[in-house]
Order: sequence, then structure tokens, then C-alpha cells
Amino acid sequence: MNSIWARFLVFLVLLLVLCAAVAAIAGLQAALLLAVLLLLAHGLVGAFHQQRLWRLLDTPAYGEIPSASGAWGEIYYRLYRLAKRWHGQIRDVEQQHARFIQAIQASPNGVVMLDERDRIEWCNAISQAHFGLDAPRDLHQYMTHLVRQPDFVRYLNAHQYAGALLMPGMGEARHNVLSVQVIPYGERRKLVLSHDITELERTDAMRRDFVANVSHELKTPLTVLTGFLETMRELPLSVAEQQRYLALMAQQAARMQHIVSGLLVLAQLEGDSRLPGEQALEMHAVLRHLREDAENLSGGRHRITFDCDERLSVTGAESEILSALGNLVTNAIRYTPEGGAIDVSWYEVKGCATFAVSDSGLGIPMADMSRLTERFYRVDRSRSRDTGGTGLGLAIVKHVLQRHDARLEIKSEEGRGSTFTVQFPVARTVRCETPAA
Ligand SMILES: Nc1ncnc2c1ncn2[C@@H]1O[C@H](COP(=O)(O)OP(=O)(O)OP(=O)(O)O)[C@@H](O)[C@H]1O
Ligand SMILES: [Mg+2]
Repeated sequence: MNSIWARFLVFLVLLLVLCAAVAAIAGLQAALLLAVLLLLAHGLVGAFHQQRLWRLLDTPAYGEIPSASGAWGEIYYRLYRLAKRWHGQIRDVEQQHARFIQAIQASPNGVVMLDERDRIEWCNAISQAHFGLDAPRDLHQYMTHLVRQPDFVRYLNAHQYAGALLMPGMGEARHNVLSVQVIPYGERRKLVLSHDITELERTDAMRRDFVANVSHELKTPLTVLTGFLETMRELPLSVAEQQRYLALMAQQAARMQHIVSGLLVLAQLEGDSRLPGEQALEMHAVLRHLREDAENLSGGRHRITFDCDERLSVTGAESEILSALGNLVTNAIRYTPEGGAIDVSWYEVKGCATFAVSDSGLGIPMADMSRLTERFYRVDRSRSRDTGGTGLGLAIVKHVLQRHDARLEIKSEEGRGSTFTVQFPVARTVRCETPAA
């Protein structure tokens, strides 16, 4: 028997005993009156607690369970225990839910949850950026009303989600490329996952361009070479003609060699994750080397000056820096017509070692400036080809300078000349005590 019945029986027994005692002392009428009054009081207490319980169940609030004595105290205590257990369970579920939301928010992918009618139930911050959504405003809206791109609408409505859809982003991401995949789950609900593949696409396009460029660059000398070979094989040529053809063939072979070695240098620079050394360069030797090369290439056709601070040096890989600075000097000579001036200087600006090459040459049109350091990019292909240029030099310069934390600045005016300035960081600038011999 549970304690409610036991307590009620005890109450009845006590009531009977009390009434019997009162009947024996004061008569039956008094005993009945007492019994009625006690039952009424019991009923009133019951009604009071029922009312309290009713109100509590109407607007339940954890922590507001009333206290009482007797059977009602037992009931309230059990109610309190139940509420406490439920409260704990709800808190666990809420914490789990919050962790789950945090995990999806932290995902680098966009996640949108759609209900059975393709209305947005929830979406994370990345998906809002990808699709230009606004979470509180757009919740419960049809996704196709907000993302109206025909390809997306067709993809979502087609219910064929084996492959992903490539589409442009929206809002701030409109210049990006998204890979969107729908995953059905539960009862006709869907997850829309979006992934920004702009970088991937760009790298892929670069790879395609690169292969096309290399093939194109090698094709021309190869075609010329094959043409000469056929001529030599099929035509009876004099010794002098043969010599001339052989010289032209050697020129084309040298050009191909120049392209391949440039590509190898680039590949090596890109694949080398080791930082260039911390050894200070023998800068006077580097500058002397640059000067000799410049004078040899010019062959006296230009006025060349070198104005260098011999006490100034930088730390890094000597061969890389020599090749980068050498390309700038070579370019100045190559792209400056006979009689022009080339001024090379090596000096310090605000603690930074700075190398500058100015020429009075052809200059570079404004539109080409931003693309100069791309592989194979030449302002005027035919002119550059005449001078043996492959368009790889400045790409190598860019890589070498990046590896040395140095900056390249190009100033140019078409028809008037250019200045290429390389600024090394303070951390790589070294000042020698004695000037070099
Ligand atoms: N000083 C300059 N004056 C005018 N144009 C320049 C100058 N330096 C570079 N350019 C232009 O920039 C292009 C790219 O130069 P870059 O050094 O990368 O290649 P290149 O000189 O053609 O070939 P490479 O250096 O591989 O032999 C050149 O083809 C040329 O059109
Ligand atoms: Mg060059």
C-alpha cells in the first residue's frame, strides 16, 4: 500500500477514535459535528493544494516547486525530483545541440538545412556568405526564392543529386566559384553543402595555361628547327649555306635550352621550402659580375653607369640574387635602343638595401605593368623573341625576391624608359665595416 493510502487510513482511524472519545464524553451530536468539521478541513487543504498544483502545471517553472507537510509534501517532493531530472536531461540535450551547431559553424563549408518544402530551417555563417543569405531574416523562406540562379533552381528541383553543381556565388561571394552538393536526409529534408573552389579553379586554369604556354613556346623553335633539317636533308646545299643553316639551327636549339633552363629554375625555386641562407653576400663581387655582364651584352652600344655603396650588403642565396638582379640589368640593356643610358645604383633607404636599374629605353605600357611577372608574359612578343627573351626572367625575379622578403617596384613610361627597384627588408640588410677591395 503506498503512503498516500496509509496516511488516509491513519487519518480515518484517528478521526474515528477521536469521534468515539468525544461521543463518550459529550454525546453523539458533538462527535458528528467534530467529524464533519475535520473532514471539511481535510477537503479544504486538499482543494488548496490541488489549486496550487493546477497553477504550477499551467505555468511550470523549475525551482518554484512549493513545499508542504504530509501527503502533499510527498507529492511536491516527487514533482521536484522529476523536474530536476528533466531539467538535467534538457540541459544535456541543449549542450549537445550547442556543440553540434558550433561544429557546423566551424566547418569551412556552407551548410543549409531545408525542410520538406525546401524552406530554410537553419544555415551556418559560411553558407550565408556563399549565398548572400541573412539567417534571422531568411529563415523559413523558400531557398529558390533567395538563390534564384537558374542552374541552382534546376538542380534543386531535379532531385538528381549524384554530382555537385558548379555555380558562381552570390552577394559578396559573387566573384567566387562554388561547388554545391545537395544531400537528402530524414523525411524529405535536405542538406545543401557549399564549398568555395575559386582557388582550385584558378590553379587548374593556371596549370592549363602553363602547359599551353610551354607547348606554344617550344613549338615555334622546334618547327623552325625541323624546317631547317628537312631543307638540309632534301636540298643540295653549298658548304657556306650549310654553315648558315647550322648556325640558325643552333640559335633555335639555344632558345629551347633557355626556355627549359628557365622553367627548371622556376620549378626549383617553387619546390624549395628551405629559406635562403643568413650569410652576407660578397656584394662587391656580385656588382662586378653584373657590370661585366652588362658591358658585354651592350657591346658599347649604351652609356652604362654603376653607382654603388660598397659597404652595403644583404643576406641570402648569392646565386639566386645574382640571377634576379642580372635579369633586371639584362632587360634594361635588351629593351633600350642603341645610344640609350642605363643607370644602376645600390644604396640604403631607411635601413633597407635597395637596388635600382633605370633605363631610357622603350618603356612599358600601363596596361602590361601588372602582368609583367607572369610566366612567358612579354610586352611585345616578336620584339622580345628577336632579343632572345622567353618571358620567364621576371617570374624568376618575383620568386627570388619573395624568398628573400624583398619587394619589386616598377615605374615606367612608354617610350621614355623604366626603373625597376628592389628593396630588401631591414632584417636582411647588412653594413660592412670596411669597404670591399
Ligand atoms: N627595362 C625594360 N624595358 C622595357 N620592357 C621591359 C623591361 N624589362 C622587361 N620588359 C618587358 O617585360 C617582358 C618580360 O621580361 P622578362 O625578363 O620576364 O622576360 P624576357 O626578358 O622576355 O625573357 P628572359 O628574361 O627569360 O630572357 C619583356 O619581354 C619585355 O617586354
Ligand atoms: Mg628578361
